[in-house]
Amino acid sequence: PKQIWFGHYELCKWEGSWYSPPVIEGALAAQSHFEARDDDIIIASSMKVGTTWLKSLIPSIMNCTQGNDHDDPLIAKNPHNVVHTLELQVYPKKQDISTLPSPRILHTHLPYNSLPDSIKNSNCKIVYIARNPKDVFVSLWHFMNKLRTEDEGPFPIEEAFENFCSGAHFYGPYLDHVLEYWNKSRTLPHKILFLKYEEMKRNPKEHVGNLASFLGKPFANNEELEIVLWRSSFGRLKNLEVNKSGTVFSSGFPNSSFFRLGTTGDWKNYFTPEMQECLDEIVRLKYEGTGLDLEI
Ligand code: A3P
Repeated sequence: PKQIWFGHYELCKWEGSWYSPPVIEGALAAQSHFEARDDDIIIASSMKVGTTWLKSLIPSIMNCTQGNDHDDPLIAKNPHNVVHTLELQVYPKKQDISTLPSPRILHTHLPYNSLPDSIKNSNCKIVYIARNPKDVFVSLWHFMNKLRTEDEGPFPIEEAFENFCSGAHFYGPYLDHVLEYWNKSRTLPHKILFLKYEEMKRNPKEHVGNLASFLGKPFANNEELEIVLWRSSFGRLKNLEVNKSGTVFSSGFPNSSFFRLGTTGDWKNYFTPEMQECLDEIVRLKYEGTGLDLEI
């Protein structure tokens, strides 16, 4: 099919993935107009994988030696208003990003094959984040429920799960999104850093240290690393006034909806043994022989 429904959302297939129609417009505009600079930093991710964390971490890394906590942009703005998404914010809102000082930090949810050519062909860096598909599904289901009224009640989880497993969800199929960036990161390790949410949660110092080095901003000392981890920590961001009210750009999603639990393994509270077996098998078949070892 060319069109399907994901809850209330009509999704259309474009270049092999599913989108709501206005997002395709934004993606086409990004493909036509985005001119990457060699020193741009592009965060790339599917949905509900830890994008908000990277949108907090990377600006903090790039500015960690400047100012103190009071000058931190994350105090005044939700991370999604600090780092903008090309196809959701920059192009739909006709933002002029040509005047932004280098290095610019930008984000996209687009799969690798749909990235603007200038991202692929320039020397800009891409930081990709992947997450356990079971936790992604649970996080996505909660996120979508934020826009439903009390009368409507939550999106039936079985229906959402069928969508997720068949890849018919925003920017889906998720497993292909991850695999494509994984394959590219293996051939272009200087250009693409492939991160896993679970590994970052387990060992933030190591992985955030590597991230800073990849971006050419290695930490001078442990104190700098600690500052960055603190500024972008889930507990701090969730409790900042700016994230307790308001909504993120035109999506209607409350700022608070980007800070739900921030843990790993919440899927265990939702998955039946059948759901588990089903997704495990899909992941096994998809990733067998690829070298990609995603936590599931
Ligand atoms: P949960 O719904 O499992 O809590 P995205 O940013 O890609 O939309 O992903 C959202 C997920 O990342 C949510 O997961 C959210 O709680 C979690 N998250 C947001 N900020 C975080 C942070 N600073 N550190 C760790 N996880 C974070």
